[in-house]
Amino acid sequence: MNLKVLCLCLLFEASCFTEFEITVPRDTVTGFYREELILPCMFPVDSSWDLRSTVITWQRGLDVVHSFYYSQDQLDRQNLHYVKRTSLFSQEMAQGNASLKLDKITLQDAGVYTCSVSTNAGSQKKSFGVKIAAFYSEPRLQFSLLNDGVNLLVTSDGGYPSPTLQWLMENSDITNQTQTHFMQDTHTGLYVVSSWINLTEVTNSSLTFILHNKPLGQDIRREIQLYSDKSERQGESAYRCHGCFILIPVILLLLIVMSVLFVFITKRRREHTKLNGATEVGHFSEILIPNRKSSICL
Ligand SMILES: *[C@@H]1O[C@H](CO)[C@@H](O)[C@H](O)[C@H]1NC(C)=O
Ligand SMILES: *[C@@H]1O[C@H](CO)[C@@H](O)[C@H](O)[C@H]1NC(C)=O
Ligand SMILES: *[C@@H]1O[C@H](CO)[C@@H](O)[C@H](O)[C@H]1NC(C)=O
Ligand SMILES: *[C@@H]1O[C@H](CO)[C@@H](O)[C@H](O)[C@H]1NC(C)=O
Repeated sequence: MNLKVLCLCLLFEASCFTEFEITVPRDTVTGFYREELILPCMFPVDSSWDLRSTVITWQRGLDVVHSFYYSQDQLDRQNLHYVKRTSLFSQEMAQGNASLKLDKITLQDAGVYTCSVSTNAGSQKKSFGVKIAAFYSEPRLQFSLLNDGVNLLVTSDGGYPSPTLQWLMENSDITNQTQTHFMQDTHTGLYVVSSWINLTEVTNSSLTFILHNKPLGQDIRREIQLYSDKSERQGESAYRCHGCFILIPVILLLLIVMSVLFVFITKRRREHTKLNGATEVGHFSEILIPNRKSSICL
């Protein structure tokens, strides 16, 4: 007789344990930094279900996250880390909903959570993993003038976990020519990422900065257009020479205008050097780098 039941159980494994089976996520759940996270847990209810005999306990390891019995929340033994951040959906409990809402997620909330449910129909507990992730901010581009080129620095912060970075120059990978620095905020644990490249020769080309935060599928891709106006200047001087054969007064006028421009540019260049050579570039703005006769736009 007993053997027969065992055989049936092996054959119809599911049906032998459906009597009281709770449901939690099979895969790790991802929570977002500072947001709320619902930890799902469902239990079977039938017509004999009774709130007063229902016990729901959420734990992370040995820490009590939240518990409920005698028809109400029982938070005496709740771990300090979770105080005022947890709640059950009491309206939904009659439908077998034992899910926990966790507010203001931080990186310290990651771990293995266990949902235990006990009713007059039976009891069971199941566990699943929770990991936390945070989106990286819109990257900021800074450039500074070096003696022999420009330094481009891209910074993005407030993300988790550490991302993978890639730099492209006209579709070829130049990540090896860049340097990257990851810094973790001691308080929040979130990352600040800085990545920079020194360009000695600025030509008309496009640079692409790619930041990939895998667990979130976050892909930041920003293009930086580099312009060199060398050939434009050559064109300008050719035009001036053409003019000199036509009318001498025009040349004189041009010379005056050029002297004024020269004084203006030299003055601007001096002012620019005063800014420690570092300037932040906004999006789609274009900036002329006086020393290098080139401009950059993001
Ligand atoms: C439990 O109820 C809440 C609130 O209505 C809902 O957001 C959640 O999805 C429910 N949980 C499950 C596992 O259905
Ligand atoms: C970057 O350098 C490493 C070793 O320093 C090399 O194995 C790799 O192939 C290089 N990658 C590219 C894209 O040049
Ligand atoms: C870029 O230039 C700065 C200043 O000269 C230097 O400190 C830094 O190491 C250089 N970085 C790279 C990636 O070559
Ligand atoms: C770079 O592009 C600018 C604007 O499109 C153009 O005026 C200039 O001649 C180009 N420079 C070179 C070196 O090709």
